[in-house]
Amino acid sequence: MDLSVHLPRGLTLKNPVMAASGTFGFGPEYAAYVDINRLGGVSVKGISPDPWRGNPPPRVWETPDGLLNSIGLQNPGMDAFLKDDIPFLKTVDTAVIANIIGHTVEEYQRVAERLTQEPRVDAFEVNISCPNIKEGGIQFGHDPEQAYRVTRAVRQVTDRPLMVKVSPNVAEPWVIAEAAVEAGADMISAINTLVGMAIDFKTRRPGLGGRTGGLSGPAIKPVAVRIVYELASRLSVPIIGMGGIQSAEDVLEFFMAGAAAVMVGTITFQHPERMLEIIEALPRVLTQHGFQSLQEAVGAALPR
Ligand SMILES: Cc1cc2nc3c(=O)[nH]c(=O)nc-3n(C[C@H](O)[C@H](O)[C@H](O)COP(=O)(O)O)c2cc1C
Repeated sequence: MDLSVHLPRGLTLKNPVMAASGTFGFGPEYAAYVDINRLGGVSVKGISPDPWRGNPPPRVWETPDGLLNSIGLQNPGMDAFLKDDIPFLKTVDTAVIANIIGHTVEEYQRVAERLTQEPRVDAFEVNISCPNIKEGGIQFGHDPEQAYRVTRAVRQVTDRPLMVKVSPNVAEPWVIAEAAVEAGADMISAINTLVGMAIDFKTRRPGLGGRTGGLSGPAIKPVAVRIVYELASRLSVPIIGMGGIQSAEDVLEFFMAGAAAVMVGTITFQHPERMLEIIEALPRVLTQHGFQSLQEAVGAALPR
């Protein structure tokens, strides 16, 4: 079965399963465990123009069926990415998606402009779940106007395929997604993590150094499926779905909800080989559920 996926501006994936940003490093970290050439793509860890130090420890907290993290988008900055990681990424045959972050519209634009000069970057994913330090710390992704501005600024400096990643922590994620599409996004990825908290009984304080964290893993899958379905019902651009995927059946669920491709995150920490197992199982699972092709499954559950 042909598993390839054709996305806007010529972005072709050999199969629809990509590594989700922040759960696969920049690629080299997993090279010993996973044959990266077999993946549909890799969305690298969020990259800012300058290095970010991230949040104080503890940074992760396990929950039933999920994981809370408050990494705080630690990363070495775009120059280190270009110098240290691009050489490795040039040796692998998979789509490289640069996930970009910033504290201001100008920072997003700077990183997009610089990375556009690197031909190995196949596409951009704009993580708009960052606080806007010029606008009182409200997240870009929580306000359609801010989402529009940041997407527009990135669009102005790159003609690469561009996806904007929406947050589940707003009442109507499609309003944010619509603003991003209006500003020039070619695709929407969904979802980022859900804000959560855990209390440490020993210290009687929040368990995470950053106090709150982002919840990911199987616990959030129904929320992710709902948001993908809402986005696919309202928008005409491809939706890249993610949140709690653990199996080929989960991937099929996202397809039927309207996703054109998926990303897999938290499960990789426990089972680095799982993405490859999913890719291998997909044709059988599609056939088992009566689909002749991948395309036939996309949006099968949407209202006609
Ligand atoms: C430890 C960790 C770090 C993450 N870092 C990023 C990041 O840098 N940029 C981003 O857009 N999403 C980041 N995410 C969110 C994931 O890419 C994904 O949207 C989310 O975890 C849901 O998928 P999952 O349940 O399969 O993990 C991170 C998630 C985790 C668990």
